[in-house]
Amino acid sequence: MVNNKSRSRIKSLRGTQNKENQSPKIIVAIDGPAGAGKSTVAKLVAKKLGFFYIDTGALYRALTLKAKRRKLNLNDEKLIIGLLKNTRIELAYKNNKLKVSLDKEDITQEIRKPYISYGVSDVAKIKGVRQIMTEIQRNLAQGNNCVLEGRDIGTIIFPNAKYKFYLDADFKERVLRRFKELKENNENIDLQAVEKDLATRDNIDSTRKIAPLKKAKDAIRVDTTNLSINEVVDKITSWIKP
Ligand code: DC
Repeated sequence: MVNNKSRSRIKSLRGTQNKENQSPKIIVAIDGPAGAGKSTVAKLVAKKLGFFYIDTGALYRALTLKAKRRKLNLNDEKLIIGLLKNTRIELAYKNNKLKVSLDKEDITQEIRKPYISYGVSDVAKIKGVRQIMTEIQRNLAQGNNCVLEGRDIGTIIFPNAKYKFYLDADFKERVLRRFKELKENNENIDLQAVEKDLATRDNIDSTRKIAPLKKAKDAIRVDTTNLSINEVVDKITSWIKP
């Protein structure tokens, strides 16, 4: 069973906002490479608008964690797809904090660790995995106003999203941000390792055959290199008229 409780789980935590079929949902798609500021910004935009927040990278990270624990070859497509079919991933958002569960275990912290980042792009490039993840993401968002952040939200998951943004920043700035974030989480990692991870992931994510990272034609590009988080949030919300 894959994630079929996610929707009710999220709803149960977020009350009665926007009951299904009551009004058309508004989708805000925020895509971009790692370190562009998507997560922080998407959370704040969702909070400001009163929308649900969906971190789609967490789904791929959760699957990667399970595969790593079982010591599976991350490039073995059949095995990884089979694993996903027997996995339950839940996203819950409460008190401005995202909780990610894998088969009922809280894995929120674990999936942010570098050893997961190193493998996640391999798992995310598998066609069958992306097909299932597409369904999961559409189900999660069903009937609700949502801010979704990822790599292919505006191009594949919700090509008709009302609002699309593509966040980017200079490579060096993205590396520094990710490095600081990992240090704040007490990870023992050096700048070169972070640089290598981001370069590798940028490459795999943007050159893969299925749903590569790219700006949707109708997305608004926001270069966050020299902007504060609040400036980016204000810029994005100024476009949105709920
Ligand atoms: O946003 P993140 O760093 O947590 O994402 C982890 C990886 O998951 C990223 O390197 C590529 C993949 N991903 C994806 O392929 N599609 C998405 N919508 C979100 C993430």
